[in-house]
Amino acid sequence: MASLQLKNLKKIYPHSANTRKGTEKKTNLQITEEGVVAVQDFSLDIADKEFIVLVGPSGCGKTTTLRMVAGLEEITAGELYIDGKLMNDVEPKNRDISMVFQSYALYPHLKVWENIGFPLKLRKVDKATIRKRVKEVAEILDITEYLDRKPKELSGGQRQRVAIGRAIVREPKVLLMDEPLSNLDAKLRNHMRTEIIKLRQKINTTFIYVTHDQTEAMTLGDRIVIMKDGFIQQIGTPQEVYDHPANLFVVGFIGTPQMNFFEGELLHSAEGYHITVEGHPMSLPMEKQNRLAAANAQLQKITMGVRPDYLYPAGEREGLAARVEVTEMMGSEVHVHGSVNGKDVVVIVPTVDKDGRHFQPPEVGEEIRLDFSTELCHLFGGHGENLEK
Ligand SMILES: Nc1ncnc2c1ncn2[C@@H]1O[C@H](COP(=O)(O)OP(=O)(O)OP(=O)(O)O)[C@@H](O)[C@H]1O
Ligand SMILES: [Mg+2]
Repeated sequence: MASLQLKNLKKIYPHSANTRKGTEKKTNLQITEEGVVAVQDFSLDIADKEFIVLVGPSGCGKTTTLRMVAGLEEITAGELYIDGKLMNDVEPKNRDISMVFQSYALYPHLKVWENIGFPLKLRKVDKATIRKRVKEVAEILDITEYLDRKPKELSGGQRQRVAIGRAIVREPKVLLMDEPLSNLDAKLRNHMRTEIIKLRQKINTTFIYVTHDQTEAMTLGDRIVIMKDGFIQQIGTPQEVYDHPANLFVVGFIGTPQMNFFEGELLHSAEGYHITVEGHPMSLPMEKQNRLAAANAQLQKITMGVRPDYLYPAGEREGLAARVEVTEMMGSEVHVHGSVNGKDVVVIVPTVDKDGRHFQPPEVGEEIRLDFSTELCHLFGGHGENLEK
């Protein structure tokens, strides 16, 4: 149990031979004379027992941030507080933090119970207490029957549970997890995700969890931190980042299938703000207009986004003309893929509507009309920024 304050954390990795200015490819990280700036301006207050998820593409600084919190990586600038105490120069072992790694990092020659009890043994806890704690943890994680096995005699999911067991056995104040499920197959990952939700209810710990996976981010996090190139893009509850993504990058990470985008223009008249979408004029609800006004949104060309669930076939009525390319029957819904003015679009239609009528998927090549409520659309400016406040 602990609250954390991360204040303007920054990490610069000193140059090595291949990170000299301009030589590093693939990432857009800032490279200065001092080195590679892997994380910067990272500020976040984490409440006691909160579950924070860090999400973002490879190389955006997630692991680096965790390692700075754990004390495994020196903090170049900024401050880290745990329960109000400055931790920058505190040894990792004195921070009361545990970390679960993607690779499990179990000791192959030790049995499961010895692996789990190891952190207690290191701290010279007496044998009886170790046995008792290992038993409790094994029950929480449902691995009691494997305690006498060696790691190589376990499945991936079981090994990952042992790694989690070892991390929670001494009841750390903070539990850091770096992509703990990414080595598991999809089915096991789903199962372990639920297990982590249950685990959270059983132990009194603050979590910081790193993932690439947006489903994990959405389902596990009290709040999600979306990162790109070492910078935080947005911090919010799953609902907030879904409903009000700060920019197009966040949109790319949250929501699947991805949001649809159309070209448009933000205009203003005596009635207030309104838009055109692929040439069609559309009015905006008052609430949206107020948010645009609060953000002092400038009149400009925009990218308009609508999630696939909020577009719907409009029948004969006005709407965007779309040419159907593929329909996918997913069971409870149909995904209709097509194009509007040459742009890919996907629409999710429930197979059965609320009155029990079945949706008749359109034929490939057919032209359909798509409509949406402008309450549910997102307006982005030239730099991908959300124009509403
Ligand atoms: N020891 C190091 N020395 C130099 N640069 C490093 C070092 N560790 C990481 N980096 C760089 O810092 C950046 C952030 O790395 P980090 O491992 O934090 O990314 P990540 O978000 O965890 O990525 P992934 O999803 O691939 O694990 C990367 O560009 C990486 O190349
Ligand atoms: Mg990483």
